[in-house]
Formats: sequence, C-alpha cells, structure tokens
Amino acid sequence: MKPTTNTGDSILGTWIKACSKDKLGNNEMFSFDHDTKHLLISNLNGMIYATDRICTHAEADLSTGFLSDEGVRCPLHLSVFNLENGKPQNLPAEEPLKTYNVKIDQNEIYVEV
Ligand code: FES
Repeated sequence: MKPTTNTGDSILGTWIKACSKDKLGNNEMFSFDHDTKHLLISNLNGMIYATDRICTHAEADLSTGFLSDEGVRCPLHLSVFNLENGKPQNLPAEEPLKTYNVKIDQNEIYVEV
C-alpha cells in the first residue's frame, strides 16, 4: 500500500472504512459516498489510491471510466487523472482531483477524509 497525498485541507482528518482489500482486485475501482463526498478507491497495479470520484471538468463519474498505468481515464471526454496527485494529464480537464490518504489495517482499506 502506498499512501496518497492529500491537498492539505484536512489537518485533523477522520479515518473511514472504505472496503475490504480482498474485494478490490488489481486494476479495479470501488466507489462510495461519505457525507457530501463522492469517493473512488483504485487498485492500480497493487497500489491503493483514494480520490474524489467526480471529474473536475464536467462532473462525469470516474468510476465508470478506466484505469491505465497513467491513472483513471474519464469516460466522458477522456482526460486522465494521476491517482497520486490528482493532476490531469491531458485536456480538457484542468483542475486536479482531490486525493486522500489511505491506510490498510487488518485487510480493510481506510481513507482519511
Ligand atoms: S467530464 Fe471528465 S474530461 Fe470532461
């Protein structure tokens, strides 16, 4: 597991359980909501990342997109977001996704929100 970096908004974040690591296969995604957040957990080549799930360009749901070695590809206009820092790798998206710290405890994936 590699923790992702957050944007610094959360100094005293709360860890919430996302899902079991066993249920998130290699190159699969899991989505869930917490309060007003729409979150995406990605297993990219065995590394676990957490980001916002809604594309910063025109609000497509990235959980219906695709994972590739470059990150998650938006299904609507095909921008790719780096899962480590949230930055778009190509237009039309220009704003990064928010990223969240991740930890795994007893096979459960937790996200700091
Ligand atoms: S909605 Fe994602 S790139 Fe346009």
